[in-house]
Amino acid sequence: MDRRSFVKQSCAMCLAVGAGLVAASSLSSCATLPVYKTAVANNKVSVPTALFAQSDFQVIQAKDLFYNIGLRKEKDGTYTALLLRCTHADNQLISTGNGFKCNLHGSTFDKEGQVTQGPAERSLKKYRTEIIADQIIIHLS
Ligand code: FES
Repeated sequence: MDRRSFVKQSCAMCLAVGAGLVAASSLSSCATLPVYKTAVANNKVSVPTALFAQSDFQVIQAKDLFYNIGLRKEKDGTYTALLLRCTHADNQLISTGNGFKCNLHGSTFDKEGQVTQGPAERSLKKYRTEIIADQIIIHLS
């Protein structure tokens, strides 16, 4: 094998291994977060209460909204809906299990949406929720 072929083969192998590692890490982080996909209707998002049979937290991905909503079932049976948009510079937040973090500049928020570490200074937007039959209604207005 000449030098050129060796370098070409080595680079192809590095790319394949690198792509595999990136895909594996992406999949592992996605696998831990339940995501419910839905749509906005009449400025509301409906989520079945049955989704909370196994977990008290769900990421809601409404196709008409740019940002996800974090929906948490509280101990008293009510639901808290937070827009997962960082209040510093509008980056999508990710769940940490007991709050949210922004990978852009490092802000963190607790599960109530309060800032626990800057540079963000404002709390997350909270939406009003109500339960009608077996649906949690998130009011976006
Ligand atoms: S955009 Fe989130 S910390 Fe800057």
